[in-house]
Formats: sequence, C-alpha cells, structure tokens
Amino acid sequence: MLILGIETSCDETAAAVVYNGKKIRSNIVSSQVHFHKKYGGVVPEIASRKHLESIVSVIADALQQAAVTLADIEGIAVTQGPGLVGSLLVGINIAKAIAYCRKLPLVGINHLEGHICAAALELDSFPFPSVTLVVSGGHTSLYLVQDFGQYRLLGKTQDDAAGEAFDKVAKLLNLGYPGGVVIEKLAQKHPVSDIPFPRPLLHDDTFDFSFSGLKTAVLYYVRRLGEKLTEDVIGSIAASFQEAVVEILVEKTIKAAIKNGVQSIILAGGVASNSRLRQCFYDQAAAKKLSVYIPSPILCTDNAAMIGAAGEHRMKTAGTFPFAMNALSRWPLA
Ligand code: KG4
Ligand code: ZN
Repeated sequence: MLILGIETSCDETAAAVVYNGKKIRSNIVSSQVHFHKKYGGVVPEIASRKHLESIVSVIADALQQAAVTLADIEGIAVTQGPGLVGSLLVGINIAKAIAYCRKLPLVGINHLEGHICAAALELDSFPFPSVTLVVSGGHTSLYLVQDFGQYRLLGKTQDDAAGEAFDKVAKLLNLGYPGGVVIEKLAQKHPVSDIPFPRPLLHDDTFDFSFSGLKTAVLYYVRRLGEKLTEDVIGSIAASFQEAVVEILVEKTIKAAIKNGVQSIILAGGVASNSRLRQCFYDQAAAKKLSVYIPSPILCTDNAAMIGAAGEHRMKTAGTFPFAMNALSRWPLA
C-alpha cells in the first residue's frame, strides 16, 4: 500500500510517503528546535501552534517529493500517542480530515512502535524475535519483541530517560538544546573520558535503568569545580558522561538478549543516532555473536517514515480506526 505517515507527537512536524512498509518515497521533517531553543526545552503550546502552521505544507512537500497526489494514497497512518496532547491533536485532526475526504483507511500508531518499525525500513524483514532498546527523550525501555505487535517489557527507566539526561546535562553545562547532539560533538573533540561518573543499576539483576543519579553526579562535579570549569574540562565531562550512558545501555541490552536467548538486538529512538553508542553496540554485540540492527541516524530521530512503516503492518492487523479516535498522552507499548 502507499501510505501517508504523519508525526506530530513532540517538536518535529513530519510527513512521509511509504510504499509497502519498506520503500521510503519521501520523508519530510520540519524541526521546531529553533523556536524552543531559547526556553531550554520544548514549550508545549508553542509546539502545537508551530505544528498547526506547518502541517499542511509539510504534507504537501511529502506528496510532491514522492511525485504523488492524495488520489494515489491508499491509507493514512498518524501518531496517536504517547506525546504532547496539543501536538498530537494537530496530526490526528488533519489525518482524519484527509481520510474522511478521500475515504481512506486510517490507523493511529504508537510512537514507540513507530521507532521500532524504523529498523524494518532498511531490512528485507523484521529481525524478530529480538531484544529492542527504545531510547529517546521520553523513553528508555527494553522489550522482548516476538513479532510485530508482540511486545513484552523487560525493563525501563525508573526516572529520567537517557535522552532527557543528555538534554539536562547539556543544559547544566550551558551547552544549549537539544543536548544529545551537542554532547556527542563535544565528546568527539575531547575524547578523554576518565571522570568516574556512576553507572546506576548497571550490576543489579533487573533490566531497569536510572539516569537521574548520573545527572546529579555531573551537577555536583561541575559545582565543585566552580571557576576551574575550562573548555577542556567541559569536554571531558561531556565525554565521560556519554561513556557512562553508553556503557549502561550496551551492557544491559546485551545481557537481556543473552538471558532471553535471542540472537538479534534492535536499537530505536533519537539517542540511537549517537555514533559512540552505535559503535559500542556493533563491537560488543559482535564479540558475543549477536546481530545488531540500528536504523540510519535520520530514521532514529522523530520522523514520519517510521509511522508509515508501522501503519502498513497495523492496517493489516487492525483494519481502520474509528473517526472518534483520540490522542493518548500516555500509551505503554506493553
Ligand atoms: O526519538 P526522539 O527524536 O524524540 C522522542 O521521541 O523523544 O529523541 C530525542 C532525544 C533527545 O533527548 C535528544 O537529545 C536525543 O534524542 N538525541 C541524542 C542524539 N540525537 C538526539 N542523544 C545522544 N546523542 C545524539 N546524537
Ligand atoms: Zn521519538
């Protein structure tokens, strides 16, 4: 099917045309970062308003880039949650309008399922069963995925998500927003990561995570340094913090794969675009004879191609959703 995917759960207005859940015909992402930057994080009302301003042109661009019109589209998939309700409503509303006018099937997609489906866009088939780490600004969760739609939660963060920790550490180091990319770039320039920040829950016997203690350790370290906080020191704080997060994510995920007897690991979500994390996963999983599938960086961060891909599968299993469908601010995958 030729599906139009729409994603407006946070601060990216995105639309994509995806064929058969695999072939990306277009993938347009309009970032609002510029508007939120000065506030140091996403301001929900601004996010909704910016989605409203740009959603029509983003969809028009996606259709144009795919060289199709609405008459060619065979189904609409839209992010239904979890996310900012005001933002979700913009995408859901336009998805309903198009589905109504064109008499098209409509499905609401769980944003996390979308992230997982990003992996399928670059593979011949889903590498299930797999242990999947969804690591983004709002989530850090490990799932045992038997098949599309069959998710068992193995563990999740008890406090901050990993991406949130990147954002908060970048803020306390005055590096700006969003934090993940800035910290990664700084860490590349200052590869010395010898500050022994804690690795919370690394050796406990659950698959849960905790990042707020690590963030607080960085805060205390910075406070202790006071005036001595030079550019070089900030660089090694960034590198050491990133190393701690990477070590926790990689070790716990590999342990979960071994414990559950699966050969494949999937990484999904914005933090999975981090090159140090990707490299460590590839190296350490190979050493344990496990396969790791990580979408291209552009498909890790929020986009609508992943929603279009999930839509293809969801439409086959759930058919069309009623027009009364509503936004879900919370929506656990399992
Ligand atoms: O999946 P995503 O685009 O949106 C959510 O669903 O949350 O993830 C955004 C998160 C942000 O916290 C951002 O700082 C983080 O992903 N992120 C990164 C990198 N790029 C984005 N974290 C570490 N390294 C990166 N290169
Ligand atoms: Zn996301």
